[in-house]
This record gives sequence, C-alpha cells and structure tokens, in this order.
Amino acid sequence: MKAVEVRNGIYWVGAIDWAVRDFHGYETPRGTSYNNYLIADEEPTLVDTVKYDFADLMIKNIKGIMDPKAIKHVIINHIENDHVTGIDRIMHLAPGATIHMTERGRKGLERFYDISGWHIRTVKTGDTLRIGRKSILFLETPMLHWPDSMVSYVQEDKVLISQDAFGQHIASSSRFDDEFVACSSVADLEDAVIDYYANILMPFGSLIKGKIAEIGKLGLDPEIIAPDHGIIWRADPGKILRMYLDMAEGKADLSVAIIYDTMWHSTERMTQAIARGVKDSGIESRVIKLRATPMSVAVKEFWKARGTLIGSPTLNNIVFPTIAQFLTYLRGLRPKNRVVGAFGSIGWGGGAVKEVYETVKQIGLETHEPGIDLLYRPSFEDEERCYEFGCGFAEKVKEYHAKF
Ligand code: FEO
Repeated sequence: MKAVEVRNGIYWVGAIDWAVRDFHGYETPRGTSYNNYLIADEEPTLVDTVKYDFADLMIKNIKGIMDPKAIKHVIINHIENDHVTGIDRIMHLAPGATIHMTERGRKGLERFYDISGWHIRTVKTGDTLRIGRKSILFLETPMLHWPDSMVSYVQEDKVLISQDAFGQHIASSSRFDDEFVACSSVADLEDAVIDYYANILMPFGSLIKGKIAEIGKLGLDPEIIAPDHGIIWRADPGKILRMYLDMAEGKADLSVAIIYDTMWHSTERMTQAIARGVKDSGIESRVIKLRATPMSVAVKEFWKARGTLIGSPTLNNIVFPTIAQFLTYLRGLRPKNRVVGAFGSIGWGGGAVKEVYETVKQIGLETHEPGIDLLYRPSFEDEERCYEFGCGFAEKVKEYHAKF
C-alpha cells in the first residue's frame, strides 16, 4: 500500500501485516499494521520505523514522497521491535540524520544496534523540534507501553503521533476511522480497541488517566490521533480518548463471562447449568471454552464483563493447565473492579476451585464464595445446585456493578 497523506504534508508510510496471527504470543485475528509517519517540511522528519521484515515497504513508501537521503530527523517514540527494527535501514540511507528519543530509549537502542556512529539527541517532556514551518512537541509516556515511550505532537497541524497508545491490531486497506467504519462497523473498531487495551495496556489504567490529563494541561488539542498500529482517528479523535478514560476507570458491561475447560465434559455440564442460572437472573453471558479459544480473546471477554466465572476440573490435585495459563496471564495484567467466582468437577481430593480463588484474591479482585465443586459427574440435583450458583453469582454481579 502506498503512502497516504494524513494532514498537510504528514504522510503514513507504514506497512500492513495481513497475515500475522501470533504477535509475540498474542493472538491477532485481524492482523495488524506498523504505522510510521513522514513529515515533509524543510527538514524532513520520519516518526518511528516498522518491523524489520517490512522495512522495504516503508522505504518504497518514503520514496513515493521523497528521496530517503533527504531525511534530517528520525523520531523514535518507542523502541519495541515492531517499531524500531527498520531504523538501521533508514540510517544507512540517511546517515546524517539526528535521532530524537528519550534517554531510556537511547539505552534500549544500544542493546539492538551499534549506535556509536549515529547522532542521537535525548528529549524530555516539553522539548520541541522545529523542522521548518512545523514544530514537534514531545511528551514522555513511560510504561505506555515501555519505559522508553513518548508521543510526538505536530503543533501546527494538531496531529498526535501516539505510538502504541490508542492503537488496534487491525490489518485493513482503510487508514482512517471513517473509512474503516464505512466498510466494517463501529462495533468492530471498538472491539479491536478493547482487545488491544485488555491485552496490552490493562495494567496501566492510572498512568493512562494521568497522561490524558497531561495532554490537556499542556494545552494540546489533537484533531488527529495517529497510532503506530491500526486505524488513524481523524473523524472522531474524542471517541478513542473517551474509550481510554472509560477503560482506565475500569468500566465494564453488566454481563458475565464464563471461562472454563473440561476433561470428560463434567465441568462443561456445570457450565451450561450455571449459564442458565445467570441468564434467568437477567444477565447475559458469554461462554468461552479455553482450549478452543485464544487466550487473548478470553482476556478481552473477561475485561468486558463485570463478572467472570472460572470453571476448572481438578487434575493431579491442582488447577487444569489451560486455566493455570489463563490465571498467570491475568495476574500479569492486574485487572481491577471485577468480581470472580469458581467452579469445577473433581475426582477425589479437589483443589482447582481453591486455587482459582487464591489467585484472584492475590490479584485483588472481588470474589463470590463459596465456589462449587462436585464429584465426578453432575447428577440432576448437582445441576440444580449449579443453576442456583449461577443465579447467586448474577445477583452478586448486579450488586457489585451498582458501585460503579
Ligand atoms: Fe507496538 Fe509496544 O509495540
């Protein structure tokens, strides 16, 4: 795909990764894009690069606008591999360019490359770069997504180049929100935003709120928000800011996710009875069998719902391996403001339900106890108990949700 003008000589020159489905272990069912931007001014400036195996596409796109030798500045907002590993190709073509990045970025970059021959200027929040008629303001955003991260604001054009923040893993011929919605839907775009936030930015909600407030305090009023992945927000940049603030506040649907796995279908039968109880109590639920669902999708569904029930058979006195993997992933993401219950089938001693509760308490989540475990295969009476457990959980979710 060739370069696309974002606004007044600011061009998207990135690459679409239509085929990627495993993004460092994170499932990307829509693919992704590596967005970077060329600002054509008296001193041409490239903001970010792309993943190494897409560098040829980036260079071709730059050549569609200008000779890459003309680049005078390279801004590196974030040094994760998907954004920085095209920089050696750029510095080969424009060896005299100055790289602008945070000090933590510089320290990281020298772990990837021999930077001794590159001219690097380290920048802090409030520093600027004048490149002709345009000037670029830097704002450090540590931990959004890595300690090195910052964003760049083209002041005259009100374009915020935001690296990972406000992005989505979407491969599309559409570059802008209005184009994407015209051929897909608002719901699909929102789902991709939630998926990205839940799997990547969930631990950093309070930092996100602080940074959005800082954007306001600095007097920035972005009319276009251009992330390094997915769709650029030009029709409604306020939408993504509102979504991020809502998610950072821990907003959730009054709904339930039931995430389970099963060995001989006993925990599955419990799941079905519990789901009926939840539904009959007036709450909708999504039922997710972990072995048949990518972990990242399960986490997204966990994040969307105010309440989650986790069903695990006991295997060798402990939690089932897929559930253990899910809990480990969840522990790292440090979710807040959710209520969790647990259930599962046991053969003899049990252990899985207890372990699920221990883990979610360690995370700091609200729990609905006691959970329910039952021996071998659910009888008719056991299924009634499961149904009642589902009803009780739904009531707990309603009560807990009312606090937000
Ligand atoms: Fe898209 Fe943190 O890299």
